[in-house]
Amino acid sequence: MRFLHVVGARPNFMKIAPVMRALEGRPGVSQFLVHTGQHYDDAMSGSFFRDLEIPTPDVDLGVGSASHAEQIGAIMQGLDPLIAVREPDVVVVVGDVNSTVAAALTASSRQVSVAHVEAGLRSFDRSMPEELNRVVTDRISDQLFVHSPEAVDNLRREGAPAVSIHEVGNTMIDTVLRLLPRTGDLAVLEGLGLAKDGATPLPYVLATLHRPSNVDDLTRLGGVMSALRQVSSDLPVVFPVHPRTKARIQELVEDAGADPSDVRTCEAMPYVEFLTLQRHASVVITDSGGVQEETTAMGVPCLTLRPNTERPITITIGTNRLVPDPDDLPRAVGAVLADPPKGQVPTGWDGKAGERIADVLVGMR
Ligand code: UD1
Repeated sequence: MRFLHVVGARPNFMKIAPVMRALEGRPGVSQFLVHTGQHYDDAMSGSFFRDLEIPTPDVDLGVGSASHAEQIGAIMQGLDPLIAVREPDVVVVVGDVNSTVAAALTASSRQVSVAHVEAGLRSFDRSMPEELNRVVTDRISDQLFVHSPEAVDNLRREGAPAVSIHEVGNTMIDTVLRLLPRTGDLAVLEGLGLAKDGATPLPYVLATLHRPSNVDDLTRLGGVMSALRQVSSDLPVVFPVHPRTKARIQELVEDAGADPSDVRTCEAMPYVEFLTLQRHASVVITDSGGVQEETTAMGVPCLTLRPNTERPITITIGTNRLVPDPDDLPRAVGAVLADPPKGQVPTGWDGKAGERIADVLVGMR
């Protein structure tokens, strides 16, 4: 059976790694990995391949940054001839980024079976590009791998056949659990002045923000940075900055003279270092989807700076809370520190999702 996997952006890598690992060595299986090049900096891509031990991609389409229409178009143009030549039985796509929808469309238009890992999530907010990517990808995928009960409900409501929906657990958490033992090394905390005697983590807040809705509008971003500054008067705030956010913060400083210097910003981090920072944080402030899940799996309090989430299970069961307005952030941080939420880990977030997906995929033969 020939599998062609497509990845492109940072949150794809930790989701594909367990699937490829589980398929590796199964009889009669061959795997081909395409990197679209949506993310290309070492900090956003190469370092993840090394940490997660993902095989070097067989092909890198090198599409780079562009408008969504150009990016999706370039991925489709690059992938189409590859699918024609490689003739895969299944194209595997993960998550909700532009590379996901572009690959699903290309494979589907060539009548190749599409398997979507992380299907069925819905924020019901179509102003998010990821929501459009999720809806379209799920609609045209043949196998839908889900990791929470509400994802099943969403897919059933949209008319997906029951036989195509597989509750398999969460591959992102497979990766967390595999690499958690490496988060005992506190070198990254020491480097940031957040570990006493190199052995005991000090209390700190971890922030990670890159959604267009939080960072593209300078007024909104100014409000976010001012809230983080307020939080940092009580506890150090560490903020590894995504390239998209970095460019906007630079504009903010130039336009308004708003210096974010009392928030400890640093470059985007490799996977294990960032996982270490999450695991030992008193609170994580984020707008990322994956971070909401990772904090729930590790029992770390999380505040999500968004009006909605496509991952409601992290709120109903896990440690996540929504904070739509940045002005409310300092109060929300205080409340969480005073009474940290006691979450549970959802069913199937147990480190075995990749194996379950591989069982279904090879069973399609
Ligand atoms: C993309 C995904 C988002 C995901 C995020 C994780 C879409 C629609 N969005 O958003 O769902 O949460 O990745 O990071 O697919 N850049 C670099 N180096 C890189 C990559 C990007 O400098 O390696 C800069 C470029 O200036 C680029 C900007 O970041 O224009 C945004 O990159 P892009 O891939 O368009 O979207 P993300 O914001 O990263």
